[in-house]
Amino acid sequence: MKIKVNFLPVELSGEVDLAVVVDVLRATSTIVTALHAGASRVMPVETVEEAFATKRREPRVLLAGERGGHMIPRFDLGNSPLDFTEELVRGREIVMTTTNGTPAALRSKGAGKIVAASFLNLARVIEEIGNEPGMVAIQCAGSGGQFSMEDVLLAGAAASVFEDRLLDDASRAAVFLFRSANVPLDRFLVDHCEHAKKLSSIGYFEDVAFCAKINMYDLLPVWRENGFVRG
Ligand code: MLT
Repeated sequence: MKIKVNFLPVELSGEVDLAVVVDVLRATSTIVTALHAGASRVMPVETVEEAFATKRREPRVLLAGERGGHMIPRFDLGNSPLDFTEELVRGREIVMTTTNGTPAALRSKGAGKIVAASFLNLARVIEEIGNEPGMVAIQCAGSGGQFSMEDVLLAGAAASVFEDRLLDDASRAAVFLFRSANVPLDRFLVDHCEHAKKLSSIGYFEDVAFCAKINMYDLLPVWRENGFVRG
C-alpha cells in the first residue's frame, strides 16, 4: 500500500484505490454524525440549485449545507453536526452542499472506493487504510483553494500510522505537522486554524469543539452509488 496526502483536493482517477475525503470543519464531521444519528444516506451535490432540483423530484429528502458557514435559506439543516439529531434525520436521505467539503467528495468519484474521515471516526479510518493493499489518496478539502491546517492535521494523524508507506514530501509534512501540534485539539484549532477562528467568530465554537473530539463514533461513511452510507 502507498499513501499520498493531497493538501488540496485533486480530480482522482482509477489509479487511486481508496480516497479518504477530509473536511474536519465541518462537512465530513457532519456526514459521520448524520449517519450515526440514523440518516440512511448523505448525497453530496455541487450546487444549491441541484439540491432544490433533487427535492422537487424526491420531496422526502432533507436539504443540508452552508454558504459562508450559515444554513442556506429554505434548507432543512445547515452544516452544524450538532443539529443532525436522531429525531430529525433518522431514516432520511440528506442532500448536502457545502463550500469545500462536498466538492472534495465529488472530485474523488474516480477512485475505486471513497470514505469520509474526521477526528470523530479516526480509528475506523486508520483501520480502513490499513486494510487497503493499493493506492490511498487522502483528499484534504481545504478552504477556498487554500489548504486548511485542520484537514492536514487529520491526514497526518492517519498517515502517521503508516509512515513507511508515504509517497512524497507533502505526505511526510502532514505527519510532521500532526506530531508538532499541541493538544487539546479544540484549543489548537481555534488558536492556529483560520476556519476554526472564523466559525468561532460567527457563533459556531461549539461545532469546532465537537469536531475536535477523537473517536466518538465507530462508523465509516462509504460511498455507494450517489452518496455516503454507513459502511
Ligand atoms: C466547507 O465545506 O467548506 C465547510 O464544511 C464549511 C463549514 O464549516 O460549514
